[in-house]
Amino acid sequence: MKVILASDHGGIHLSKEIASLLEEQNIEYEDIGCNCADSVDYPDYGIPAAERVANGEFDRGILICGTGIGMSIAANKVKGIRAALVHDVFSAKATREHNDSNMLTMGERVIGPGLAREIVQTWLGTDFQGGRHANRVGKVTDYENN
Ligand code: RB5
Repeated sequence: MKVILASDHGGIHLSKEIASLLEEQNIEYEDIGCNCADSVDYPDYGIPAAERVANGEFDRGILICGTGIGMSIAANKVKGIRAALVHDVFSAKATREHNDSNMLTMGERVIGPGLAREIVQTWLGTDFQGGRHANRVGKVTDYENN
């Protein structure tokens, strides 16, 4: 599995924590920044990351900003992206099983590193259930394509 990781200045510390986790787990990833202390704009990182998931270069993407909300809004504008804003382990599992989310967004100002690590591990390790959920995801994709 190949993962793309991005953050704005509001998510930089949590992003580094998640990069460490991916390294520990031997998961292939690319960190596209910002790796910055200065204020930047989350769409400048979230949208390019989402495009690289949508075009198949990466299987999954993880986006972090202050709240996770801006990144979620931006990523979900990219066709083919199902970005889930998640701050608990139950939702991390459910959004993979039910929504086949291909991007995860989190807020560094909302949760701590321990919970974020559990969320990422759960989200990366849970499969889509398909079945009735595939029908529902398909309706969203149909709307997006028409
Ligand atoms: C930056 O201050 C903050 O607005 C951003 O990280 C994010 O929370 C936006 O949704």
